[in-house]
Amino acid sequence: MSPRGFHGTIVHSLGPSNLIILENALLVLDTDSKIAHLIEDIPKEDVLSTLSSLDVSPPPTPEDVRFLPRGQLLIPGFVDTHNHAPQWAQRGLGQSMHILDWLDRVTFPNEARFRDPAYARRIYASCVDGFLRQGVTTVSYYGSLHAEATNILADTCLAKGQRAFVGKCNMDRNAPDSYRDADAGASLRDTESCIAHVRRIDPSGALLRHVLTPRFAITCSPELLEGLGELAAANPDLPVQTHFNEAAQEMAFTRELFPGFGGSEADLYRHYGLLTTRTILAHCCYMSEHEMEVVRELGCGVAHCPVSNMTVGGGFMAAPVREFLRRGIVKVGLGTDSGGGFSSSILDAMRQALVASNAREVMSEGRDKGLDIGEVFYLATLGGARVCCLDDRIGNFEVGKEFDALVIDANASGVMTMLEDHDSARVIVDKFLLTGDDRNIKEVFVRGRSVKP
Ligand code: GUN
Ligand code: FE
Repeated sequence: MSPRGFHGTIVHSLGPSNLIILENALLVLDTDSKIAHLIEDIPKEDVLSTLSSLDVSPPPTPEDVRFLPRGQLLIPGFVDTHNHAPQWAQRGLGQSMHILDWLDRVTFPNEARFRDPAYARRIYASCVDGFLRQGVTTVSYYGSLHAEATNILADTCLAKGQRAFVGKCNMDRNAPDSYRDADAGASLRDTESCIAHVRRIDPSGALLRHVLTPRFAITCSPELLEGLGELAAANPDLPVQTHFNEAAQEMAFTRELFPGFGGSEADLYRHYGLLTTRTILAHCCYMSEHEMEVVRELGCGVAHCPVSNMTVGGGFMAAPVREFLRRGIVKVGLGTDSGGGFSSSILDAMRQALVASNAREVMSEGRDKGLDIGEVFYLATLGGARVCCLDDRIGNFEVGKEFDALVIDANASGVMTMLEDHDSARVIVDKFLLTGDDRNIKEVFVRGRSVKP
């Protein structure tokens, strides 16, 4: 039985600079695992009388309520806005290479192996388990280019209870024969069959959505980009994702392939109808004034991937997050970009976001202040939910949202900074976010279901 309520220290974000830490808080779920009440300052001994006064039916009994001891926290599940599921099998390899060399030498040969459904089943089971264990309750996944393997990824997320966008990677050029869609038509037909598969296995969209996934302009012919833009227009429920202004090598080749857009990837993707309010742009490391404005006006989301940006790619530069927030571009979340970089942990992405923002502060001579812990917590939760246009359903514990949450245990054995008797709730939060790991993630809930492997 899933709990109907939690009592203790509850932490969530209401905005980039609005980290909320509630002590002695009572969170009550209704029977379909939506948040019915979040009430602060209820002493433990008053929980029973409070429950009986609430208008939830049937009312939860005290046995349905989980009382969190000191050192445990309830926080929203993490949202990973940019993740390559097949790259789960190549993590740690090819570090410090420039992006196009890394794709050719490490990534494409690895992803080509997903033509084998048995291999896909094995790696995707491990991948989804691995992210759930690390508290990632929602992910926007790139699959490989194979329709069958991509359908296996969707099946795996559904069976294991992870909320996910799943995209068949579209790529019909500038990749080896062994790992390339035959042509634009074949790529689009496979995409349509993957869209149909997700709609068939999760008709209400409770957990899953197909995401249109032109890998990036370099691997897509103009016909393919055009076809995907048409699919985006015809299916307003489908998100779109691509890589955007990641690194010098990538940007230079894109300009060569598409000379007509004045060097602007924003204008290129906009031309093909791929910049919508449901579009997730990974990286955005280099943004001209014009591109900032296009992204803001069109309401695209940014997947900030500071770990991979500082490890592979050759840019060694991460997105100007402070500048985005200053301009009111609040649809910014974190991506692990699993495969690129040294870590697939969203906690590490939060830490590296702090580091990258400090570098930006120095580079901007103090104009772009570094991010603080509340801000990176926002990026990993509500910000990510906004990027995925799921903030009406997840991202924090506002009444009416679905219950995607983690129970954090600061006292679990591991390497997290030990607690002291006098630690405030804020200190415990900081210690976990900066030094905790998956050993401190005791339980994971998606839509109220316990899903920790
Ligand atoms: N650009 C196109 N494909 C990829 C990828 O798999 N990883 C990264 N980091 N950038 C890309
Ligand atoms: Fe990526």
